[in-house]
Amino acid sequence: MKARIATLPGDGVGPEVTAAAVAVLQSVATHFGHDFSFDEHWVGGAAIDDTGEPLPEATLAACRSADAVLLGAVGGPKWSDPDASVRPEQGLLALRAGLGVYANLRPLKPHLALAALSPLKDERLRDVDVLFVRELTGGAYFGAKTKTTDAATDECRYTVAEIERVARRAFELARTRRHHVTSVDKANVLETSRLWRRTVTHIAADYPDVTLEHQLVDSMAMLLLTRPSAYDVVVTENLFGDILTDEAAALAGSLGLLPSASLGEGMRGLYEPIHGSAPDIAGKRVANPIGAMLSAALLLRHSLQLDAEAQAVEAAVDEVLQRGPYSRDLGGDAGTDTVRDAVLAALDHHAVSSDAFFTGMRACG
Ligand code: NAD
Ligand code: IPM
Ligand code: MN
Repeated sequence: MKARIATLPGDGVGPEVTAAAVAVLQSVATHFGHDFSFDEHWVGGAAIDDTGEPLPEATLAACRSADAVLLGAVGGPKWSDPDASVRPEQGLLALRAGLGVYANLRPLKPHLALAALSPLKDERLRDVDVLFVRELTGGAYFGAKTKTTDAATDECRYTVAEIERVARRAFELARTRRHHVTSVDKANVLETSRLWRRTVTHIAADYPDVTLEHQLVDSMAMLLLTRPSAYDVVVTENLFGDILTDEAAALAGSLGLLPSASLGEGMRGLYEPIHGSAPDIAGKRVANPIGAMLSAALLLRHSLQLDAEAQAVEAAVDEVLQRGPYSRDLGGDAGTDTVRDAVLAALDHHAVSSDAFFTGMRACG
């Protein structure tokens, strides 16, 4: 198949990990006979330096006309002055809003070979397989802001329609998994959370085959550490989802491992690792590229509907996590390119075997 992919490497380790994800997609194209084209654009601090804006119009237009968007990370100390009038992060938020990608999928499936890196005991990690569905274009991130010298406000606002669409997405996804949804809110305090809870409960009536449970966010932060295997799909608002998924990444052993897919109404999606620009290691070529590479797998699955290809990438990553080489965050000394090359070599093997499998299926079928 033919696909046009917009790449937005961004800042810090963004370009380093995005290059590895692009290499994965190029390898998939070669092995499976696809024609992917890549078109690179500015976003974040790099875009501010170039044009004065964190999301230049040309970047948004290119993303809107692409089949999928692959992003690295934005931000860094250079653009972090609290009094700055433009910030890299504004570019990312404007991109998410501009593409209408309201559902941010962040899967967590810790690899047992990395259990020693997790703060949890091995037995608690067994059978952990959680899909976080974070609302991405509403809440405090997008509400009105005010600032004077001695006070500031961020309005947290949700509409029923915004809650309904992300809740439906969570229930639909639960149907492809273990049929369980946990909705996380702070309904004992926040009006937006009471609206959230009422709306999610209402939507649940359309999904009688899926069980719904509500948890308060403070309690959920604790439960993620004490019984993470009890959760299937976890749906929550923007800010709670941001925080809980960094916590979840720690269970897997490193923030560098987790991918994400941000989806809206059509097939187009925005794919990025959940980590940031990692200024402490940027430019050293030691960042873990696996979160970005797994984001490429999600791109194949959700925007291009190439499930066998996505599985081949995931199997290749799995194999490397099983035996190394490991980047520094995983306790090894392999650089970004060494990890990339190991995944590409494993992919050569998996792509050939899944290709042979599908050719065999076609021959039988
Ligand atoms: P961060 O995610 O950049 O880094 C947190 C820690 O995790 C650091 O020690 C870093 O070295 C480590 N880490 C992150 N990714 C890694 C990887 N791939 N391999 C190995 N180690 C990795 O968070 P931060 O330091 O709080 O934020 C830095 C900047 O990134 C800020 O400007 C923030 O706004 C931005 N940020 C951007 C995104 C995004 O673009 N989606 C996400 C989070 C943070
Ligand atoms: C993330 C990041 C972003 C967020 C920031 C950089 C705006 O932390 O993608 O998780 O808070 O959504
Ligand atoms: Mn975050």
